[in-house]
Amino acid sequence: MISKTVDYKYYWKITVLALCIICVSLFHYITGTEHKYHGLHEIYRRLYYVPIILSAFWFGLKGGISCAIVVSFFYLPHVIFQWGGSFLTNDLPKTLEIVLYHIIGVVTGFLSQEQMNATAKLRHQAGVLAQAEEQLRHADRLSALGKLSAGIAHEVRNPLASIKGTAEILSDKFKPGDKEYEFVEILIKEVNRLDAVIVGFLDFAKPKPPKLTLSNINDIILSVLKLTEHQIERSGINIETRLGDNLPSVYADPEQMKQVFLNLIINAVQAMPDGGELEVESHRNSSEIVCTLSDTGIGISNEQQNDLFTPFYTSKKDGTGLGLAIVYRILEGHKGEIKFTSEENKGTRFTISLPIGNL
Ligand SMILES: Nc1ncnc2c1ncn2[C@@H]1O[C@H](COP(=O)(O)OP(=O)(O)OP(=O)(O)O)[C@@H](O)[C@H]1O
Ligand SMILES: [Mg+2]
Repeated sequence: MISKTVDYKYYWKITVLALCIICVSLFHYITGTEHKYHGLHEIYRRLYYVPIILSAFWFGLKGGISCAIVVSFFYLPHVIFQWGGSFLTNDLPKTLEIVLYHIIGVVTGFLSQEQMNATAKLRHQAGVLAQAEEQLRHADRLSALGKLSAGIAHEVRNPLASIKGTAEILSDKFKPGDKEYEFVEILIKEVNRLDAVIVGFLDFAKPKPPKLTLSNINDIILSVLKLTEHQIERSGINIETRLGDNLPSVYADPEQMKQVFLNLIINAVQAMPDGGELEVESHRNSSEIVCTLSDTGIGISNEQQNDLFTPFYTSKKDGTGLGLAIVYRILEGHKGEIKFTSEENKGTRFTISLPIGNL
């Protein structure tokens, strides 16, 4: 719809310009060149300024110059053939008028182009501002919602603890193999799962400020790899570590950073149900420590990529969808960054960067 309106306006302007040029040219060609008409020709010549200025105003520099060329094309035969003789010697002022058309085209075109660019810039800035305002409002609503749900989640944990306690007492009353024992075990398992979701949510909704201490990122990565070693091997995954030598320490909360690497490694393992390669690498890049985790797993589709860090976004049956949201929050608290690239059925690479000396 919009493009149709634009086209219509464009053609309308071109038609007005064409009509202007044709009318002024007709005046020139049908008016004689006798002495009594000289005054009229003086006026007609200047009438060509109208389409040139209009074109410059509507289409900028290109419009001004193109119109000056078209006008010259219509005007020149009149000078040569109707006024006769050498147009360079006999009628220099008339010929110089063509130079003037071009000067007017260039100057007004340039000025109007500047104006157009400034307007476009202002429009763009207004758009960006409106977007930022909307994001701020959205963040405000999310924050209010987050506080409310964090309060509810916190309250849910208390009765959950009582249910779990009661279920554990009940499970003591039955022997393994009893039907009731099995039910109570399911009850305890589901309560534990619910509790884990709530703990994850509270971690996300009410993030603790990081306790920054001078930490060695490689040590943190190695401790998480040790923790997950068993799971990695069991899944048939080969692990390759290429940790940079003598990396400077960074100010980080080791517990929170362990959570970051744990979430990323577990995601990578879950993305490679039939085994694969996991490469963990770290290096220094000017004032940052950069760590990358690359897997050869199922990858992430383009549609999924926008939602990856959104809380509760998960493609897994038992996932909470909070892992990456928490990772993002933690890195934000460390003034760090996380990025990823992924190709479906090829694999995914997460890149984390932490500033050196961020206290
Ligand atoms: N390495 C990866 N390869 C492929 N997909 C991934 C990878 N890491 C994350 N994802 C996708 O991003 C989604 C969100 O990940 P996130 O860690 O936030 O939640 P989750 O793993 O689904 O659940 P949870 O971490 O709570 O168990 C995942 O469900 C998965 O679809
Ligand atoms: Mg996860």
